[in-house]
Amino acid sequence: MENICAVFNGEFKDISEIKISPLSRAYTFSDSVYEVIPFYNESIIAFDKHIKRLKRSCSSLNIEADIEKSSKEILDLISSSNLQNGYVYYQISRGVDNLRSHMYSDDLEVESFGYVVEHSFESKNLKVLICDDIRWKRCDIKSTSLLGNVMNMNNAKNKKCDEIIMHKNNEITEGGASNVFFVMNKKICTPSLSSNILPGITRELLIKEIKKNGMLFEEGRYPVENLLGAESIWLTSSTKGLAQVNEIIDQENKIELDNEIFKKCERIFKDAFLGGG
Ligand code: PDD
Repeated sequence: MENICAVFNGEFKDISEIKISPLSRAYTFSDSVYEVIPFYNESIIAFDKHIKRLKRSCSSLNIEADIEKSSKEILDLISSSNLQNGYVYYQISRGVDNLRSHMYSDDLEVESFGYVVEHSFESKNLKVLICDDIRWKRCDIKSTSLLGNVMNMNNAKNKKCDEIIMHKNNEITEGGASNVFFVMNKKICTPSLSSNILPGITRELLIKEIKKNGMLFEEGRYPVENLLGAESIWLTSSTKGLAQVNEIIDQENKIELDNEIFKKCERIFKDAFLGGG
């Protein structure tokens, strides 16, 4: 992997030149948090919200990071990349242990790592697999411990799916790397925030636009059956924007691909955050 601008512990270099210790707790315990920060036409989408969530993730795990320094590194990565559209991946770990131990020492130096890559924000239709949410009980923290998502998503990949929609005890939670919206009886629905889902920033931005436009909307707790009866389903994330689900495998469903409510949401989101593009 070459020519990817990156930063490691404050030093900017090509990603291929970064060396990490095998005793980094990011490596031994996934003791780290991250953000994916999108930019479009050189303008960052909801930068402050990403920084706020990074700060919250760090404080949830008692990682004492210098968030101001991280913010500056993220901005520098974007400006030095000369890219129009893309995203920054930025990770903060607790640091490097002397020897692997679940209980960390108090004097560890926080370790940070980020890179910037090009990304096109073209809308894509998704084929999804509905599956059991096997993750831990703090999915509200944007931690790099994502094995539940990884296992479920690779199972979906083997079935030629692009994403998953998870449920806990038949209650819809979220996608593998996205939040879920669907339309039921012309009303837009999305699972309420809880410790079972990530408070997605794209989710938050879209909800604000939906409310501003006076569209019928509700946050709640929904069984999988609601999804199977939905007129339209879409997933939201910083890299997907709004991506429509066109197929749920192995399940009967009622998805209409030309759904007017989805099309309006897509339009108001693009107008507000992607310069209408
Ligand atoms: N994932 N839920 C999960 C589990 C996610 O991993 C993500 C984003 C979201 C959407 O959050 P946001 O709108 O703030 O991007 C919801 C990123 C993009 C990733 O892991 O690559």
